[in-house]
Amino acid sequence: MTSLNGDNKARYVSDMFDRISSRYDLLNTLMSFGMHHFWRKKATSIATNGLTNAEVLDIATGTGDFAIELASKPNVDKVVGLDFSINMLRIAKQKSDRFPYPRRRELYWLQGDALALPFPSNTFASVTVGFGLRNFADIDYALSEMERILIPGGRLVILEITPMNSRFPINKLIKLYMNKVIPIMGKLIARDIEGYTYLPESVEGFLNADELASAMKHVNLDNVNFRKLGFGTVAIHYGEKTK
Ligand SMILES: C[S@@+](CC[C@H](N)C(=O)[O-])C[C@H]1O[C@@H](n2cnc3c(N)ncnc32)[C@H](O)[C@@H]1O
Repeated sequence: MTSLNGDNKARYVSDMFDRISSRYDLLNTLMSFGMHHFWRKKATSIATNGLTNAEVLDIATGTGDFAIELASKPNVDKVVGLDFSINMLRIAKQKSDRFPYPRRRELYWLQGDALALPFPSNTFASVTVGFGLRNFADIDYALSEMERILIPGGRLVILEITPMNSRFPINKLIKLYMNKVIPIMGKLIARDIEGYTYLPESVEGFLNADELASAMKHVNLDNVNFRKLGFGTVAIHYGEKTK
């Protein structure tokens, strides 16, 4: 992938997810050895614990697993899953049509851009992003948008792959897996080597866990912290809008 900015990156990313949508879930499971379900469950608890009748937005919802997990919580009343790839959203909708979440809970799928969220300020009790942030063309702006639409007391929870320090042998092995094995799996299963070469490249260029925490504080989120999972390959960052 050559260096992409702004509209070019948005078009590149949405075309890529439109192309790989039908194989995305299978590849996610193979690449993470099924751990992605467990990571989303953890992030969902952090996003929803202690809330009542909450309205939640899941940005870059893709095929909808995070939004559906959120909608399964008894203290969540309404979930909106937003993404700019229509093919990913189509699969999310098919999945939620089959999912037996209680009727009184509302779950909506919405096509939209994380950099221009179509909601007024102070709308959601919780905002989540799963494996989406590193794809955004302007991360600082996306974070400020998320902060804007949270209600005072609301929380932002980000689940994302995090660049690793390759001093440790296990990290060298994981890097080898991401750089060499994942593109081959992408080629064989999704028939799209470009999409799965983009994955390790997008992680390499992304903020490390401390830098992401600083970026969250920069948009006025408080009580920012993170937890690493999956041998340090993944982090859940969380922060609150206190004012
Ligand atoms: C790796 S998938 C993650 C999907 C899902 N959240 C999950 O946990 O599996 C990234 C998603 O982000 C979406 N995306 C990337 N940039 C976006 C943007 N600026 N606005 C909305 N969606 C975006 C892509 O279309 C894709 O569906």
